[in-house]
Amino acid sequence: MPGETYWQSEIEKCHRINLTRNIPVLKFLDATHGVTETGHRLFVACTNDYLGLRFHPEVIESAQKCMRYDGSGSSGARLTTGAHPLANQLERELADFKHSEAALMFNTGYMANIGLISTVGCSGDVMFSDEKNHASIIDGCKLSHAKVVIYPHRDVDRLRELLNEHRNAQSRFIITEGVFSMDGTVAPLPELLQLAESFDAHIIIDDAHGLGVLGERGHGTLEYFNILPNPRIIQVGTCSKALGSLGGFVCGTKCLIQYLCQRSRPFLCSTMLPSSVLAASSKALQILKSQPERVHRLKQLSEMAKSIFSECGMAFPPEAVAILPIIIGDETTTMKIFENLYQRGIYLAAIRYPSVPLGHARLRLSVCSEYGEDEWKNVLSRMVNSIKAIT
Ligand SMILES: Cc1ncc(COP(=O)(O)O)c(C=O)c1O
Repeated sequence: MPGETYWQSEIEKCHRINLTRNIPVLKFLDATHGVTETGHRLFVACTNDYLGLRFHPEVIESAQKCMRYDGSGSSGARLTTGAHPLANQLERELADFKHSEAALMFNTGYMANIGLISTVGCSGDVMFSDEKNHASIIDGCKLSHAKVVIYPHRDVDRLRELLNEHRNAQSRFIITEGVFSMDGTVAPLPELLQLAESFDAHIIIDDAHGLGVLGERGHGTLEYFNILPNPRIIQVGTCSKALGSLGGFVCGTKCLIQYLCQRSRPFLCSTMLPSSVLAASSKALQILKSQPERVHRLKQLSEMAKSIFSECGMAFPPEAVAILPIIIGDETTTMKIFENLYQRGIYLAAIRYPSVPLGHARLRLSVCSEYGEDEWKNVLSRMVNSIKAIT
């Protein structure tokens, strides 16, 4: 079969250039530790559960209650079998948290980006997308009918030129992540907003890694820059990172949200999340609102990691975010460090092509507010030693 022959040759190519991806079997024991099938216990240093809310007893209890009363699934898309009251409640809570008029839930952050971008981008429009944007943004752009223009990472001057070149387009959308998922860099939002105003554009900001992390109270990148949402700003988020649950969302004007309800295919044509998941997200959001100290602790642990790594000459972006990429470059060396740490009880994900460009392989260290300080320090020095020994 021609398909099989091609697939096999691609798999072999991955082996030859050390880019094969193996999916490890890892069962989490708590927010920061896991165990493999063979009983190997690991400190997980790359979780997206930045505030440890996945295992919070109140979150678990809320989900369990819903599961008991509502069952395991949701039986259909919202427009066919109706919305569970918790879907509307969570949307109000998220809109309120993001200071937006309204919100719409999708099943994942990936679907939120696809569902938003593919729906708002019409023929005659232009999408200006940062070169380091997440795959879900790239795919949303591909599925839209708009022209897509990629601008260099955080390069406001180049973006201005490109906006100028396309000033006669029907509509313009600047699309950026708040905190970039593979680099830990923060979008220059005030400058992007100025450009959006000058060129009458919208900004779509995917704040998957800003929620629960940036700003004094973890509201995200807008809070960090003291920017209040206005109708130009469309925010995308996910409950799968700092809220420890699942489900993506879009926050914007009532008009935008109503439009997505009518037209966005991932919303219209996919079974809604079960109420247990909605309940978990809602409870996690309540905990985040009432316990900003979790956000502060995350920042402290992030600063601690930066200072320990600076001893071996490794620098990170200046903001206290949860993502601290250790950029090695060469894929083989990156895998050697990964394996060395794994043997020593530390699980630190190795990120390689196609998640990042070839030759830009890295270890994606992330911070969780629940790391014990002594254990964290110990893990960090072991990482530094291992990196020094191998590179
Ligand atoms: C920036 C960004 N957007 C969207 C997503 C997708 O979110 P989810 O995992 O909820 O589908 C991710 C996840 O990795 C991400 O990093």
